[in-house]
Amino acid sequence: MTTSPHAPAAGAVPIGIEDLEIATGHHVLDLSALAETRGVDPAKYSRGLGQDEMSLPAADEDVVTMGAAAASALLERTGIEGIRTLLFATESGIDHSKSAAVIAHGLLGLPPHVRSVELKQACYAGMAAVQSAIGIVARRPQEKVLVIASDVARYQLASPGEPTQGAGAVAMVISADPALLEIEPISGVYSADIDDFWRPNDSSTAVVDGRLSMGAYQKALMGAWEDLQAQGGPSADQIDAFVYHQPFTKMARKAHRHLSQKLGAELDETPLDQAEVYNRRLGNTYTASLWNGLASLLDHAGDLAGKRVALFSYGSGSAGEMLTGIVRDQGDAAGRRARRLAMLDAREPLAVDAYEELHRSAELSSASDQETPQVGGSGFRFAGIQGRARRYERPAG
Ligand code: COA
Repeated sequence: MTTSPHAPAAGAVPIGIEDLEIATGHHVLDLSALAETRGVDPAKYSRGLGQDEMSLPAADEDVVTMGAAAASALLERTGIEGIRTLLFATESGIDHSKSAAVIAHGLLGLPPHVRSVELKQACYAGMAAVQSAIGIVARRPQEKVLVIASDVARYQLASPGEPTQGAGAVAMVISADPALLEIEPISGVYSADIDDFWRPNDSSTAVVDGRLSMGAYQKALMGAWEDLQAQGGPSADQIDAFVYHQPFTKMARKAHRHLSQKLGAELDETPLDQAEVYNRRLGNTYTASLWNGLASLLDHAGDLAGKRVALFSYGSGSAGEMLTGIVRDQGDAAGRRARRLAMLDAREPLAVDAYEELHRSAELSSASDQETPQVGGSGFRFAGIQGRARRYERPAG
């Protein structure tokens, strides 16, 4: 058991992740097929980027339906008692004004006395939601916060970013009963205004300077690490596993090696293998990526009880943060691993031409009423546009 000089002060309540669940889109694209179509060596994607597949939402799925699917499965275990806040983190929001949180709130059948809001800062917003949730629980420990991080990563067809697309959601309950991961109070933060990746209001795909974004990621990592140290956080030899935001899984490895080199230390790489199992198959899930990595680590690393993990979030534009937490109890990790791998196996494969067609038709105009075909299997559906508003359905019963 790691002794924790960084634990909450005497009398402070321990706060963190009580439980977590993941969900993804209905379709999957095998990246070796994409490589063949694009005339690229498949090893560039599998070894060079560390990606094997990408999830794709069906025509009747989006960030709301994936987020609701993850949260619904989670709330079946935790119940809704005590939840008075729903924070929805996303880069791929579906309205400039109305938050995905209020729609998810309705789909989940949550009571009216829940504050619901959306957070945005590229891939970083999931971390911002978790930190905001901790603040709310610290103020009133009988309250819980439902955090949903959900995204569809879309780049232009045949662009360098194309093989790093993906889709998925993570839902977490943050509470004063952190049965899964107790989050320590000190974190390291870093912000810098940079145009490495952004999505103009009139564009459904991101504009990205890939090389610039990789450098900005590493700069934010070192900035957050140095701040963590300056704030009195744990040193590298007091951390048992590092989990990183994974825009593509190789990026986590590059970041880890960068940190090792800067520290002049040989940081263990084994946890990187355990934290990338789901991400290699989901693709980039933006705000959800780091937490999918945490889920993968907790499901694949064996007994981590009492061990300290460091979680680094990076959102282009840019904001970075590293926090640390102590794993409490992984529960039935083998059962969860089997269920999550089965979920990934159950996605419906798409041929490259069908993927390209889906990509081109992804954005519906709100100018005319239209219905989406029934495809996705979670029961939560984006049913179409009516009166310029998006309409959703939830599972019957
Ligand atoms: N076998 C094995 N590896 C190969 C290979 C092959 N046949 N061909 C290329 N590679 C490797 C390259 O050496 C490189 O690895 P390295 O960076 O360790 O040297 C890797 O595959 C990628 O190749 P590269 O030519 O650099 O890729 P790219 O210019 O086509 O695009 C990104 C890479 C990341 C810039 C692009 O995917 C992108 O823009 N992604 C979106 C933005 C993003 O995710 N940013 C990350 C920070 S948020």
